[in-house]
Amino acid sequence: MNDPYMKDTDFMKGDDPFFPTAESGDGPFAVSREGKVTTTLLQQKRPISALTAYDYPFAKIIDEAGIDIILVGDSVGVVVAGEENTLPVTMDQMIYHTRMVSRAVKRALVVGDMPFLSYQPSVEETIRNAGRFLKEGGAEAVKLEGGAAIADRILALTKYDIPVMAHIGLTPQSIHRMGGYKVQGRSARQAQGLLNDAKEVESAGAFAVILEGIPIGLAQEITETVSIPTIGIGAGPYCDGQILVLHDLLGLSSSFHPKFVRCYADLTAITAEAVRHFQSDICAGKFPTPEEGYE
Ligand code: KIV
Repeated sequence: MNDPYMKDTDFMKGDDPFFPTAESGDGPFAVSREGKVTTTLLQQKRPISALTAYDYPFAKIIDEAGIDIILVGDSVGVVVAGEENTLPVTMDQMIYHTRMVSRAVKRALVVGDMPFLSYQPSVEETIRNAGRFLKEGGAEAVKLEGGAAIADRILALTKYDIPVMAHIGLTPQSIHRMGGYKVQGRSARQAQGLLNDAKEVESAGAFAVILEGIPIGLAQEITETVSIPTIGIGAGPYCDGQILVLHDLLGLSSSFHPKFVRCYADLTAITAEAVRHFQSDICAGKFPTPEEGYE
């Protein structure tokens, strides 16, 4: 019998006795765990790739493409539900989307994003809501916005084995304090505060930290200071990993074009063209043909 307390790298070989690979049998657990991304594995892996997803079909595509982390972001409120900002997003909505994503994912680490007011009121509420992401949503970790101010939440969650990804810098739930989506940490005082935030979330037990909307040099300094991986968005190239919002990358966010977003496709144009084609086929009597119907 192999030692069940194997190193993460041993899981990469697919020889975990509790999770046989597809090749090693077809029992109920005959799903390949080869290469499964875990919070511990991420401590060594560089660079780390991450994307948001909110539903089954996109999560499946992203997972099969080999992205390491899938964040079910509260950005769902903006890019899918059409809200002005992320503040209206509820716990029930997040659980609904997290469940869809985790059903599709075999390899990536699924992280559920804790929405506004699901962790701010108290440590107890934080634990209860974070637990829902794991119990009901099938997530493997949660993300919270904030640094030193929420270190007690991070400490409590990690104490009860709920892994936490922290998120500092431009934190969208703080839009009204920041006066809009503005780059953070430009002044020496703010930069020092963010460096301190990064150290505090690391000490509290976060397994990674998202750095959003901060200057390149500050992101580099934080990355060199903390030992947990930094995942950047609008924070330049010197982070341990990068994340983008899926709908921005696919060209589906019509009014949001900051310079840190690279558009890898124009799905708005592709979708509009497909729909116009469908419409013109109907008008021209070309759809459906008899071959597309039943006798
Ligand atoms: O909600 C989200 O998509 C996020 C990313 C921008 C990191 O928090």
